[in-house]
Amino acid sequence: MGAELLGVDLDTVVASAAALAEIKALALEQQVLFLPDQDVPATTFAALAREFGTELPHPAYPRVAGAPTVQILESTEQRPSKIERWHTDMTFSRVPPDWTLLHGQIIPAYGGDTLWSSALAAYDALSQPMKRLLEPLNAVHDFSHGFRESLAEAGGRERLAGAIAENPPVSHPVIRVHPETGRRALFVNPLFTTHIEGVTAAESEALLAFLYQHQVTEEFTVRLHWAPGTLAIWDNRSTLHKPVNDFFPQHRRLHRVTIAGRSEPRGVSSAI
Ligand code: SIN
Repeated sequence: MGAELLGVDLDTVVASAAALAEIKALALEQQVLFLPDQDVPATTFAALAREFGTELPHPAYPRVAGAPTVQILESTEQRPSKIERWHTDMTFSRVPPDWTLLHGQIIPAYGGDTLWSSALAAYDALSQPMKRLLEPLNAVHDFSHGFRESLAEAGGRERLAGAIAENPPVSHPVIRVHPETGRRALFVNPLFTTHIEGVTAAESEALLAFLYQHQVTEEFTVRLHWAPGTLAIWDNRSTLHKPVNDFFPQHRRLHRVTIAGRSEPRGVSSAI
């Protein structure tokens, strides 16, 4: 997985249906694209993101002034980032985002890389009996589970009360069929998934422990070392990712747009 696109002029891309189609096709195939040296304003970044679909607002992040679809992900010495576990963005939503775009702004002198893992490779590498076991199962994903550290902060529960009310736990298939490619992806993550339904608590725990380890096998992953201006685009339907929080107390700031999904994740039986 993963491809680097050099020398891309975003203004030209946004104005060209053919260039956009090429980038989207490549993003579907490679699962994550890296475009270095994109020293463009947040408005240009937002314009590119809009070409991927409608923005899905995030309940927990502030926005860029003048570019209201762009979220700010910031980690400082005073407020270090707490999101460190592998995840797929916003799987606590009934319809999680199809795409995410991230744009490097303030990058630490060392550390702060991001890792992605291919949920397609993870599914493909399972044995046939394990695929058959998982394919009919659903798992519960929960905002409150993913943001538990923020909720435990002083005033955290009050600050996020609206988000909790709007995002009750949801059930998604453990094996998701990609709506555009038809490929199957392993669709659980340790940040938001709480348990697998229809099995005992002990079975759920053991299965998830195995899947969480399996899905981030090094051979399924790619790692980005950020520079200011690096832009990453990834397909949330086929990947997981995690930031590496090894840069404290340095400042790290990224801009992000998440693109709303067009359908609820479908499992194998409903996709046939
Ligand atoms: C994210 O989880 O969308 C952000 C990843 C990062 O901060 O590297």
